[in-house]
Amino acid sequence: MYTVILNGSPKKDGNTSILINMILPKLNSGFKIINTFSKNITPCIDCQKCYTSSKCALAENDKDKTTVFLNEIEKADNIIIASPLHYSMLSGSFLNFASRFQYFYVSKYIRKDENFHIKKKRGFLLLTGGGTTKDFYPVEKVTKLILRQINASYEDTLKYINTDSMPLYRFDDFSDLEKLNLTNKINRFVEKINLSNISQK
Ligand SMILES: Cc1cc2nc3c(=O)[nH]c(=O)nc-3n(C[C@H](O)[C@H](O)[C@H](O)COP(=O)(O)O)c2cc1C
Repeated sequence: MYTVILNGSPKKDGNTSILINMILPKLNSGFKIINTFSKNITPCIDCQKCYTSSKCALAENDKDKTTVFLNEIEKADNIIIASPLHYSMLSGSFLNFASRFQYFYVSKYIRKDENFHIKKKRGFLLLTGGGTTKDFYPVEKVTKLILRQINASYEDTLKYINTDSMPLYRFDDFSDLEKLNLTNKINRFVEKINLSNISQK
């Protein structure tokens, strides 16, 4: 089992990273974290070269590491999209990264490449937020759409939407009840990730 975590936070030690770090020791699989807020990630420019070629035009750019990351995603059994809520949506840097999944869509549905295959995987969403978002339907809908591009199902969301009043770097100061509630939520989420009954396609 191999889990790839896509971290869309602009902060290395922010709330999203702290929440990711809280789940890592509980995972029973190997994992890799890809930070999408990186100079090495170039968004899709819709040049449509992949309509006729199996090579993405951006993969020819030495500075672009997205292709390397896309290879990791192909290998994964589980994908966790982790992001702070920005305007009740996944972060801009995450959406830039996910725009490169267009290559997979085009390979399958436009170029109809018979050699193209991404193994089936399970997808999860991890969200942090300051507290203003009340409606999670739009972000979950977009997440499902993005997961479908990489042949991932949508399984579950872990939300911590209270970072304005209780940022996670202050977890040690939380009351025992607050600690227990969050720990229970994390445990239920990780239990689902650790299920290994994946049927390969
Ligand atoms: C541009 C921007 C937009 C935001 N929009 C929302 C929002 O719509 N809903 C919400 O609950 N929090 C919102 N927040 C707050 C962040 O989601 C929150 O601070 C989050 O925990 C930050 O995670 P990080 O520490 O990993 O960056 C926004 C923050 C920024 C910078």
